[in-house]
Amino acid sequence: MHNDTPESLMRTLAEKAPYAHAVMDEGKNLMWTMVKYKELRMVYSCALKEIQTKFDVLSTEFNLKYKRNPISSVSTRLKSSKSIMEKMVRKHLTVNLSTMENEINDIAGIRVICSYIDDIYMIADALLRQDDITLIARKDYIKNPKENGYRSLHLIISIPVFFADQKRDTKVEVQIRTIAMDFWASLEHQIKYKHEIPDQEVISAQLKECADVITATDEKMLSLRKRIESAQDLPDEEDELLLRLQKIDTNV
Ligand code: GTP
Ligand code: MG
Repeated sequence: MHNDTPESLMRTLAEKAPYAHAVMDEGKNLMWTMVKYKELRMVYSCALKEIQTKFDVLSTEFNLKYKRNPISSVSTRLKSSKSIMEKMVRKHLTVNLSTMENEINDIAGIRVICSYIDDIYMIADALLRQDDITLIARKDYIKNPKENGYRSLHLIISIPVFFADQKRDTKVEVQIRTIAMDFWASLEHQIKYKHEIPDQEVISAQLKECADVITATDEKMLSLRKRIESAQDLPDEEDELLLRLQKIDTNV
């Protein structure tokens, strides 16, 4: 039944207007948050491109100028929205964009896999020497492994990303580890995210044993490499020229 007079309709609308405005404001805020979140992800994704390029350049140089390349592989990942949300809840953070930017250091992540332990520190130094990179935090889980046996070198760095009208200093988590450490961490990662694993304690103990074996192997491989290198004659200028000449045709 429509017995509303134009006057009563106007009255109802006038009564509801503040509420309608509030709903519209809320909707607008939500849309802005979504837009800003999407734009922020784009910034992190560009920071990953910047840092990936830095490692590509180092790798190209090693291929061209040196006997071996310490960088075995590089991979990047942008943290999923689900993982960001889970981490913010786990850390009891207020869920908003500025808290996310300030408190979550691993939205952009890059993992560099090296052959030998000393390569890890050499690569970390080569990165940190670059004058656009700022070190925010460093955790050396190789010198101080975690109780479960986890080893890796972690750096939280800030890298500038240049856009049309602004520069954004953006945080990236850099994990540098050997092939063996990576092998171990990828298996251990699987049990972390499985809630119900039978014999969890036995598996954790055996993983710790594997970590010890891997540590010993990493250290032995490094010492063997050093012994082999020191047994080799130091290349004279002619050898060096021949090596570099050979490489200019095969790589880059
Ligand atoms: P998260 O809150 O887990 O990111 O830890 P954090 O902020 O204290 O930083 P931390 O440097 O300890 O760890 C950062 C990242 O390193 C993790 O997100 C994992 O990718 C990796 N990591 C750290 N500890 C372990 C571990 O015990 N096992 C495995 N597989 N990975 C680990
Ligand atoms: Mg992480």
